[in-house]
Amino acid sequence: MQSKEQSVYLVTGASRGIGAALASALDDRGASLFLVARGAIEDRFSDAECFSADLSRRADIDAMLDAFFRFVEARAPSSVTVINNAGVLAPIAPAHRCDSGEVAASLKINLLAPILITGAFIRALIDRDMNKLVVNISSGAASSAYAGWSAYCATKAGLDHFTRCVGLEQEQERYPAKVIALAPGVVDTEMQSQIRASSEDDFPMLKKFQAYKSSGALPGPGEAAVRLLDFLDNWPLEHGGIYDVRHAGG
Ligand SMILES: NC(=O)c1ccc[n+]([C@@H]2O[C@H](COP(=O)([O-])OP(=O)(O)OC[C@H]3O[C@@H](n4cnc5c(N)ncnc54)[C@H](OP(=O)(O)O)[C@@H]3O)[C@@H](O)[C@H]2O)c1
Repeated sequence: MQSKEQSVYLVTGASRGIGAALASALDDRGASLFLVARGAIEDRFSDAECFSADLSRRADIDAMLDAFFRFVEARAPSSVTVINNAGVLAPIAPAHRCDSGEVAASLKINLLAPILITGAFIRALIDRDMNKLVVNISSGAASSAYAGWSAYCATKAGLDHFTRCVGLEQEQERYPAKVIALAPGVVDTEMQSQIRASSEDDFPMLKKFQAYKSSGALPGPGEAAVRLLDFLDNWPLEHGGIYDVRHAGG
């Protein structure tokens, strides 16, 4: 499994939605894939390892990273990319009515896990002169406030700001990893189904999101994955850059 052109990708949240579609699109490009989720990941790829991990658990993250670095070493790739994509929207409710367990899970999955994974990735490959990229999947909710999504908005805003800070750090490194955040736009996945199934009492903008679906204009995960990868291929990425595919090309 060795080639000087080989690219390795770690994709979290690869069991469905955007993560599963990214895995398929990357497989089409001949990438080696290390795929992570709690649920089953259908392994129909040329070169992939599917790793079961609950990213709200530190022990699972540590075990996942050990296996990922073994996967990288076995391939001696020319580039390694981490796509921190796994995420949860719940809880959907005003902050004073949120379940504390769901709030804690949101912070762990959406923010703590990408922070720990990014740090470990940079540390493990710090002396390696190769293309290193971390893509933190962000959201318009990082900059726009939505009543009913306080935990989600806070985690995505935190993820963007973490990205900016690490970008500054990496600029100083001899062999820097590029760390960016990238929002995919609204995509027709299970996350959107959860939004549409919520109540106006918990989420006042419900009707707007229901209209996205009924208008037939929502892109599917496959289309979103291609847009994300095209963006990564073509946009001049800066250290700590915060991007939204909807702003690409005007
Ligand atoms: N869809 C949109 O409109 C939209 C818009 C902006 C941003 N985003 C962002 O895009 C990313 C992907 O969202 P999506 O729409 O594809 O959501 P999705 O269809 O709900 O998929 C979420 C993925 O995250 C994984 N995940 C959730 N909790 C996990 C945990 N504890 N441990 C490991 N994996 C976990 C899920 O796998 P398991 O359940 O099998 O573990 C699943 O593969 C998220 O970061 C989301 O915030 C989505």
